[in-house]
Amino acid sequence: MNFDKELELRVKKANQAIEECLPKDEGMPGNLVESMRYSVLVGGKRVRPVLMGELFEIFGGKGKELRFIQSAMELIHTASLCHDDLPALDNDLLRRGKKTTHAQFGEAMGILAGDALLNYAYELLFDGINESENKENALNAARILSKKSGYLGMLGGQSVDVEHEKTGIKGDQLEILEYINEKKTAALIEGAMMTGAALAGADCEQLKLIEKIGNRIGLAFQIQDDILDVTGTPQSIGKSVFSDMKNNKETYVAIVGIEEASKRVIDFTKEAVALTDELPGNTEFLKEMISYLALRKN
Ligand code: IPE
Ligand code: IPE
Ligand code: MG
Ligand code: MG
Ligand code: MG
Repeated sequence: MNFDKELELRVKKANQAIEECLPKDEGMPGNLVESMRYSVLVGGKRVRPVLMGELFEIFGGKGKELRFIQSAMELIHTASLCHDDLPALDNDLLRRGKKTTHAQFGEAMGILAGDALLNYAYELLFDGINESENKENALNAARILSKKSGYLGMLGGQSVDVEHEKTGIKGDQLEILEYINEKKTAALIEGAMMTGAALAGADCEQLKLIEKIGNRIGLAFQIQDDILDVTGTPQSIGKSVFSDMKNNKETYVAIVGIEEASKRVIDFTKEAVALTDELPGNTEFLKEMISYLALRKN
């Protein structure tokens, strides 16, 4: 298998779905639609829709609903980025190689575009349910994605992350940091993978296994992100560097150093790859994808 080519194909498919699902610029709501479209179309690796599509495939999914749910996923993720970059959170000016949404359209639009993307993602989830021939599976998938995005998932992690900026992490630093990473980042990756499988009818036990795999991928993903924050360049990562230091974030890099942090990326990645052996179907691409994520440079 030529991984690069296979990945390119899957990203292209995800992008087609996303572009088709995005709201069109139809005038009235000022800059809102433009800022929504800008935030999504400016770039992005599309990791989550690709993972969702792969699990859908592994579990033999066939329906037309996938594209709506993949798009909803990417919109939720992009909304999280719009808000993450706001002055009240990480206060960053560069994202996906271009100005962040609030830097381009103003702070109010940074907030509103994030809200509108999140809200519109739910319209797409309903469209997906509507398209699905198995409403029970689609409802299950939609519920998983909602939960992983919410106060017990991504948003919960973001809130603990910002609250610890001022005070520093007290108590067991690594335990709290793992909680933050698990919620702010791994939750959406778990959600993406579980949703793909749930749409295709995976059972409860299988979903638990996928959640565990997604968790390890997500933990590795965030540590690698923290490493790139200090080892990358604005050109290579498309974001400002040293954002974490500027915001007094406690990251693995800050607590245990780059070398130890890199070891953790490898350990979580190996664990994730090993767990995929318990999945049915052809997991060749998934395994390579997990390793690619650990070694990525952007
Ligand atoms: C960035 O996610 C935010 C984190 C969870 C670290 P990605 O690295 O997937 O960002 P894009 O979508 O490719 O821009
Ligand atoms: C944020 O983590 C994860 C999100 C939920 C957006 P970071 O703050 O490290 O993400 P980047 O580095 O800005 O993409
Ligand atoms: Mg942040
Ligand atoms: Mg940030
Ligand atoms: Mg970061």
